[in-house]
Amino acid sequence: MKTTITNDPKVAAEFIKAGEIAAFPTETVYGLGADAFNEKAVKKIFTAKGRPADNPLIVHIANKKDILLLAREITPSAKKIISKFFPGPVTVILKKNEIIPNAVTGGLDTIAIRMPSGRLAKQLIKSAGVPIAAPSANLSGSPSPTNFMHVLRDFNNKIPCLLIGPSAKYGLESTVIDCTGKHPVILRPGSITLEQIKKLDKHAVLLKKFTKLKSPGQKYKHYSPKANVKLITVHNSKGKSEKIKIKLNEPSERQKEIKQKCAFIGLDKNFGRRFEKVLICSSLSIYAKKLFWFFRQCDEDNIKIIYCQKVDEKGIGTAIMNRLQKAAN
Ligand code: TXA
Ligand code: MG
Repeated sequence: MKTTITNDPKVAAEFIKAGEIAAFPTETVYGLGADAFNEKAVKKIFTAKGRPADNPLIVHIANKKDILLLAREITPSAKKIISKFFPGPVTVILKKNEIIPNAVTGGLDTIAIRMPSGRLAKQLIKSAGVPIAAPSANLSGSPSPTNFMHVLRDFNNKIPCLLIGPSAKYGLESTVIDCTGKHPVILRPGSITLEQIKKLDKHAVLLKKFTKLKSPGQKYKHYSPKANVKLITVHNSKGKSEKIKIKLNEPSERQKEIKQKCAFIGLDKNFGRRFEKVLICSSLSIYAKKLFWFFRQCDEDNIKIIYCQKVDEKGIGTAIMNRLQKAAN
């Protein structure tokens, strides 16, 4: 199959209308979309990604009023989030309408809904005239794509259409929030933080243990580059830098070889000097934005170990640590 690459959302929308799948940019990561009402089309997404059928998709809309096409009711907790953060990098879970194909929701009684703010995503959904079900446009298990080259790496000539646009503004997937109950429960942290949600409802929480099948996606391995991901604390409580074990007691040639195969991403400038491939991020938002991009760069360069600096689990640091821990598992 030849992939049609276009920068015209109307062209990509024709594929969606014809029951085909198309990748497209959003402000979080690129998505791989299909008409949410067309079960056969939605199933093509699962096949292309190699995604387990019980991992449900997010449905993307261009108008707030379309929420009622998808959900039975908009709960008070959802209302607050929608009015504050739609369109944006946030997804709400609500009880689904009967007409939604089971393939979209992985057989659940709930549905994930997001209204992206990116211009191209909006135009695509509007031109297609239907809500678009879309997971991230990566092969199942690999890091989410933050630019169109990443999508081509995973899917060139394996999907019918790719709508190209700018690199993702946020670089991490949306914050997924269960709004079916009285108070919001964050199932997947993202750029919209728990602290921000708590300003709308002080009883909002972040779900830490995924014992129930609340968020099916959380049980799967995710975001992993081919390289080994190791999390490190750059400064311990005594303010000393952590030593990296493998480099001790090695002859210098061997040290050099090891160094070439190791990379570092984090905030600490001095620490980073020890590695061949380094990304020092000047803020947590840049760390979030560049993380998946860096993972993919490291794989291209045949890096064997990526050392990632741990950050405090607050603000967007929570989302960064969530992705790092999954990648390191
Ligand atoms: O930013 C994003 O969210 C991107 C862009 C393309 O919108 N999409 C994305 O989709 O990351 P995906 O499929 O990679 O992740 C969707 C997450 C999964 O963890 C899935 O299990 C969860 O949302 N999810 C979807 N529907 C759900 C539901 N009804 N209940 C609980 N979790 C749900
Ligand atoms: Mg994904």
